[in-house]
Amino acid sequence: MEKKVLLTGIKPTGVPHLGNYFGAIKPALSMVSNDSYDARLFIADYHSINTMRDPEVLRQYVYEVAATWLSCGLDPKKVLLYKQSSVIETFELNIILNAFTAKGLMNRAHAYKAAVDKNREKNNPDDHAINMGLYTYPILMAADILLFDANVVPVGKDQVQHVEMACDIAQAINHNYNDSLLTIPEYVIDDNTQTIVGLDGRKMSKSYGNTIELFLSEKQLKKSLNRIVTNSQEIEEVKDPDSCNVFSLYKLFSTKDQQDQLAARYRAGGMGWGHAKSELFEVVNAELKPIREKYNDLINNKDYIDSVLMEGAEKAREIASKKIFRLRKAIGID
Ligand code: TRP
Repeated sequence: MEKKVLLTGIKPTGVPHLGNYFGAIKPALSMVSNDSYDARLFIADYHSINTMRDPEVLRQYVYEVAATWLSCGLDPKKVLLYKQSSVIETFELNIILNAFTAKGLMNRAHAYKAAVDKNREKNNPDDHAINMGLYTYPILMAADILLFDANVVPVGKDQVQHVEMACDIAQAINHNYNDSLLTIPEYVIDDNTQTIVGLDGRKMSKSYGNTIELFLSEKQLKKSLNRIVTNSQEIEEVKDPDSCNVFSLYKLFSTKDQQDQLAARYRAGGMGWGHAKSELFEVVNAELKPIREKYNDLINNKDYIDSVLMEGAEKAREIASKKIFRLRKAIGID
């Protein structure tokens, strides 16, 4: 039996943090490493120029994303890893999809609507600072998905609408030409994906400035963890692990036994926040140390990353060009 195709894209938007690691990278890796899928993972570099205009920064971010996934355990022999920009068939399909996408559908996209709302709040014209890349973002994303006949698309909640739009567009095309021309994808949201608390106890997010970066040196990591907000209880006081940001992070990196032991110390009194934080450092560092070492090797070995991405691109294009050939024939452009 043929394996189902699983595909997902990552926008190269900068330094990964623990929220990304637990919320996106780990759950996606456990899915793509599952041998029951034919897995494809790509770096959505063309999507990012809607907002990122510095070529050096973009180049660096692409390497960082690739190095992050490779160091966290992605095996490029098992999972196709490539840059969106390498698969130029994507942009040909994008044009085809444009013709079948109702403008009204794009008007309903959350990201576009949020940008309009923001303009209205500030008394700017509706279209102020909105480029067509943002407006048609779901179409390019549909091209990424449909080009590879993806069956399963793991995404975060904010991307569900985009996958649904890809289905709508695909159905319009299938309806006109042939019902089996494009594969209708399905999104999946990982149930295990948890909200990770940041330094200040709110959801860890770049926009709150409360992240703990994934690839800090030991010294920087210690410093970062020391900035976790705690209450002002004294050392001798009895403490509640369940309402503590330090403990909440500790749980992600420790066994049940370790958690019980630390919780008992909280409840016994006589343990200060400094102690709790150094316990946290030990478990975080134990997990991140090998990943950090791999990452540092990789990020200094761009030739290797290039070769992985090049190989991925070749294989991806082989698949994509067949699909485009079939589509052009169906449409009457051949
Ligand atoms: N839009 C996605 C994000 O911002 C990235 C992405 C681009 C993607 N193309 C995709 C995800 C195709 C899944 C499938 O996270």
